Amino acid sequence: MRIWVSGAAGKLGAEVCRQLLVAGHQVVPVDVRPGGVVEVDLGDRVGVGRSLAGCDAIVHCAAIASPENVVPAELVHNNVMSTFNALEEAWGQGIRTAVLASSGSIYGTAWAPEELTVAEVPVDESTPLAYVDPYALTKDILERTGAMYARRGMQVTALRLHWILTAAEVREYVADAPPAANRRNLWGYVDLGEAARACVLALAPRPEAQRFEALVIAAEDTGRHEPTADLLARWSPDTRATEVLDGHAALFSSRRAGEVLGWKHRSTWRQ
Ligand SMILES: NC(=O)c1ccc[n+]([C@@H]2O[C@H](COP(=O)([O-])OP(=O)(O)OC[C@H]3O[C@@H](n4cnc5c(N)ncnc54)[C@H](O)[C@@H]3O)[C@@H](O)[C@H]2O)c1
Repeated sequence: MRIWVSGAAGKLGAEVCRQLLVAGHQVVPVDVRPGGVVEVDLGDRVGVGRSLAGCDAIVHCAAIASPENVVPAELVHNNVMSTFNALEEAWGQGIRTAVLASSGSIYGTAWAPEELTVAEVPVDESTPLAYVDPYALTKDILERTGAMYARRGMQVTALRLHWILTAAEVREYVADAPPAANRRNLWGYVDLGEAARACVLALAPRPEAQRFEALVIAAEDTGRHEPTADLLARWSPDTRATEVLDGHAALFSSRRAGEVLGWKHRSTWRQ
């Protein structure tokens, strides 16, 4: 297949391009930043359309990937219009497969101005979206935009990616940080290579009943040394565990991604 990848100069997009090329696909790497890519600002509808010519599918990773150091209006405008232009122009050109980088931030805990607590863990696709911040809003709009094109006949997969880190970065940012620092993320992560592999798997055709899917994509374990049950009891005592939390069990569940994509997080930073 010939696959259009946005955000290709970024962390995830570059790895998606790498894995697609290894798998024998052709790639059209697009980004507003230079660096071995087709330079397109996704705010430019015409430029997006031009870059999509001849493509069979899109993997849309481009976004302002954090609400830090950007005014909310710019964040929302960039991310919402980028997603709309990518999907609308793809639809217009007959492209019927899209993979969208959503985020575990959609649940609202990561960027809430005052700390929010989820009522129950593991977090999964049935967990309410109780966010109060603009970044999470952009991911909800991304998913709803995707769902709209799915109703028209496009296969759309929105991946609710947890914090995308390499094993070395888990050691640097999570494992030995004060536990309170990553309570907002429930000490989770997804390995960069595993996140990109989920994007690639989501390009495969699925039954019509699964035309739109929003899937949690997270590691099977936390990024911490302490047992998960101890972390929760100490740092989030009001959160109820709906399952037994063995050892370092993650507090985000990717069970549904296993059923739909056949994806399972295979690596851990502990090895
Ligand atoms: N990094 C994480 O931990 C994480 C977690 C969950 C979800 N995500 C999502 O995954 C995606 C990729 O994240 P990342 O970590 O690779 O971020 P990144 O910042 O490394 O890459 C994002 C890329 O998008 C490009 N971009 C932004 N606006 C654009 C526009 N208008 N036109 C063209 N290109 C534009 C940027 O130039 C950048 O190269 C994003 O959608 C992000 O929200 C990231």
